[in-house]
Amino acid sequence: MRVVALTPEYEIQGFDCGDSDLNEFLLQDAKHFSEKRIANTFVLEDEGEIAAYFCLLNDKVSRLEVTNSRWKKIKDSFPENKRFRSYPSIKIGRFAVSVNYRGQNVGTKLMDMIKDFLYNEQSRSAFRFITVDAYLSAIPFYEKNGFKLLSQKEEGDTTRLMFFDIKKLE
Ligand SMILES: CC(C)(COP(=O)(O)OP(=O)(O)OC[C@H]1O[C@@H](n2cnc3c(N)ncnc32)[C@H](O)[C@@H]1OP(=O)(O)O)[C@@H](O)C(=O)NCCC(=O)NCCS
Repeated sequence: MRVVALTPEYEIQGFDCGDSDLNEFLLQDAKHFSEKRIANTFVLEDEGEIAAYFCLLNDKVSRLEVTNSRWKKIKDSFPENKRFRSYPSIKIGRFAVSVNYRGQNVGTKLMDMIKDFLYNEQSRSAFRFITVDAYLSAIPFYEKNGFKLLSQKEEGDTTRLMFFDIKKLE
């Protein structure tokens, strides 16, 4: 398996992760998002088949979006003169594993690859956290992969903001 960037020339043969919004994004919108420079998409290929895909974009973890107790923990991990109202982050905009590859640790392996890749690619622009707007059904998956909840639970929300501290890899 290998991760490749979704270029304008890339021919997508098909993809089904069981969620129509995520399928539609890959099949119809992903290339436009890259072209407009608002999110880059990468696919995990396995013998010509797309096993999974994800998007990356810049983000920040901001005081305004985080619960008081979580913000205190984040703040306490920085020395007093390095405490700001937000910290640079990278967002995993979308993350989906094909139904053909589910429950085989593909999601976890891909998440490890992303963390590794981002950790080693921080030479140009710094970031401290990886964020994700997790579907409520996927929260246990992200928790198993070291992500923690950031946002308050609000009535009617379909996603929760979660984060992973890249310093955990040191
Ligand atoms: C969520 C998703 C990415 C997980 O991918 P996966 O390859 O099946 O996950 P893994 O096999 O690596 O699972 C790792 C662990 O998370 C658990 N897990 C995975 N999905 C879960 C879910 N929906 N609910 C509860 N636990 C889940 C697994 O049971 C496994 O636990 P274990 O190690 O104790 O057995 C995949 O189910 C998916 O693409 N779902 C549809 C799209 C989606 O919800 N994407 C997330 C958008 S925020």
